[in-house]
Amino acid sequence: MDTKSRYEELKQQIHFHNYRYHVLDAPIISDLEFDRLLNELKKIEADHPDWITTDSPTRRAGARPADRFEKVRHPAPILSLANAFGADDARGWFERVKRIDDRVEKAKFVVEPKIDGLSVVLHYRDGIFVQGATRGDGEIGEDITSNLRTVRTIPLRIPVDAKGPKPPSYLVVRGEAFMPIEEFEKLNQRLEEAGQKTYLNPRNTAAGSLRQLDPALTASRPLTLLVYQVIHSEGGKVPTSQWELLEWLKALGFPVTDIARRFDDFEKAISYTESWDKKRDELSYEADGMVIKIDDLNLAADLGFVGKDPRGAIAFKFPAREVTTKLNDIRVNVGRTGVLIPNAVLEPVEIGGVVVERATLHNFDYIAEKDIRVGDRVLVKRAGEVIPYVIGPVADARTGKEKKYKPPTECPACGQPVEHFEDEVAWYCVNSACPAQLIRNVEHFVSRGAMDMVGMGIRIVEKLIETGKVKDVADIYKLNRTDILTAVTKKERKTEKEPPGKIADNLLASIEASKSRSLARLITALGIRGVGEVSAADLARNFMDLDAISNASAEDLQQIAGFGPSIAESIAEWFSRPANKKVIKKLKAAGVWPKGIAGTRQATVEGKLSGLTFVVTGTLPTLSRDDVKDLIESNGGKVTDSVSKKTSYLVLGEAPGSKFDKARSLGIKIIGEEELMELVK
Ligand code: IVH
Repeated sequence: MDTKSRYEELKQQIHFHNYRYHVLDAPIISDLEFDRLLNELKKIEADHPDWITTDSPTRRAGARPADRFEKVRHPAPILSLANAFGADDARGWFERVKRIDDRVEKAKFVVEPKIDGLSVVLHYRDGIFVQGATRGDGEIGEDITSNLRTVRTIPLRIPVDAKGPKPPSYLVVRGEAFMPIEEFEKLNQRLEEAGQKTYLNPRNTAAGSLRQLDPALTASRPLTLLVYQVIHSEGGKVPTSQWELLEWLKALGFPVTDIARRFDDFEKAISYTESWDKKRDELSYEADGMVIKIDDLNLAADLGFVGKDPRGAIAFKFPAREVTTKLNDIRVNVGRTGVLIPNAVLEPVEIGGVVVERATLHNFDYIAEKDIRVGDRVLVKRAGEVIPYVIGPVADARTGKEKKYKPPTECPACGQPVEHFEDEVAWYCVNSACPAQLIRNVEHFVSRGAMDMVGMGIRIVEKLIETGKVKDVADIYKLNRTDILTAVTKKERKTEKEPPGKIADNLLASIEASKSRSLARLITALGIRGVGEVSAADLARNFMDLDAISNASAEDLQQIAGFGPSIAESIAEWFSRPANKKVIKKLKAAGVWPKGIAGTRQATVEGKLSGLTFVVTGTLPTLSRDDVKDLIESNGGKVTDSVSKKTSYLVLGEAPGSKFDKARSLGIKIIGEEELMELVK
């Protein structure tokens, strides 16, 4: 291909990838690959300046804002940074800027983390947060004020501490909004368990949470930010050293990185940068490098720009944690709740010092959307503690031998047909006797909130299943002393203070004691999809025993207040399965047969919440689950497990589950703990 055609091709590709990244929040190539394309384009433009047209991606930073938000013109351009790959590259930058201005020779440098998040611009008038915007194309961004207001680390009034410095009457700062890695993982885990689409990485999650129209959703996402630049100010002084600026911003109440350091020697700045390359996993957020900035901001400004990159700073990129390797196979794991999770079996490859052989493929929709085929070269990313994941295929590397992937129609562990639920991307194995699920099921059955069998640890459970002594939860009640003694592993023998015989006797006693648990607990223990402690208690109040529930139709079950069609069907379906029928029969035979208080609904107290139905999701600031339930019930209200049209209020806490999305889609009123307290006051 001639250079001109390659140039046109590159422009088209870069525009496309910009759009995927900025507008759709769904990139299909790594930052590294994108940088490569851009560098190639820049190189061609340097050789052929006459080819450059106004539509070149180099004439514009990022992408245009999506139409759905109001547009905001930034008071000054929101600039980007040139990259350095490695110490020599960074030294090259130092030499170049020294040649432009000899003051650089004696300059000091500030090194800061380069956070892989979303650049945001915050406006303060007379100390009040009045507007927040995305970066957009660097000149015009999107007004996401309402969403940013929900980010708790953004000060709504500065100085936060009255003793702090007086800010200029108009101050515009820039920072990087992001989701901490741990929060990102928790969020994805919840989404996965609820059969919802998971997010690709913390950056996309942050972008997706901020660039959507519902502030309540943003509020539920644990976003934060770090501020590092003043874009504009009027009516007041601003420090002219980056180091002092960071201290000043901190004194005003902005979150500022605590790992920034100032050096009077460029080589020391490099060593510090490199030290963080090794320690990047210690950071709670994703950093793709460190930024080395000339401390004297006037000198930095005097150095000018190359395109949209200021000469006064450089991004020192850490080595990529994305590599390509061959996708040898796709295997399916059965997770908790029976959800099927496709996993990539990879040609082993080193990513950032760790050999990776497996990576998640999230769900079957993901494989189809990205058109990932067995035999493909795929781009794999490993960052921090995040489970390695496949970003997508390198379609150009295809030989024609790759095979399109067909999701299984049967559970890979038990062979039962898999099922799909409306509104979910996940597929499930719903067979409770499935060996892969059995371990999870038994773990849940014996757990504290359920049958509470003290001493039944995971290793014993695994061993009992492995030796075939436990094939379903009811088999636990058939265990004898010898069965347990053989299941007490070497490890337990060593770590436990008690002799094995004593361990076995204690466990047998707690199995026996569990027979007297309530019907509500037994129902909880069965682990029926959608039935938590609250619904289990409702069932126990409405039915005599497990037989009575199993004879009820989905329509009957829907008569229970708060039981929508989805939970009713899930219960009816569970009880209709032959394997589950067998378990119930065995439990009855073993004497695990608690009785409910059929029809005798708990006498409801009259109170402020009479006639109202509540659903609680997420962690509330002060009240525990039991506290909220007591509070609502003692005021005459009712608490249910799942959201339906009949729900009066959703009480929303931090890190909510899928109930939140459901409530929003049904237009249910959403309140916080404080508002709940108001209702009962
Ligand atoms: S300074 C003129 N400092 O990285 C100032 N940027 O690849 C230019 N970023 O667009 C930005 N952490 O969104 C700066 N400590 C930091 C940063 C940082 C993250 C982002 C920023 C920028 C991008 C450049």
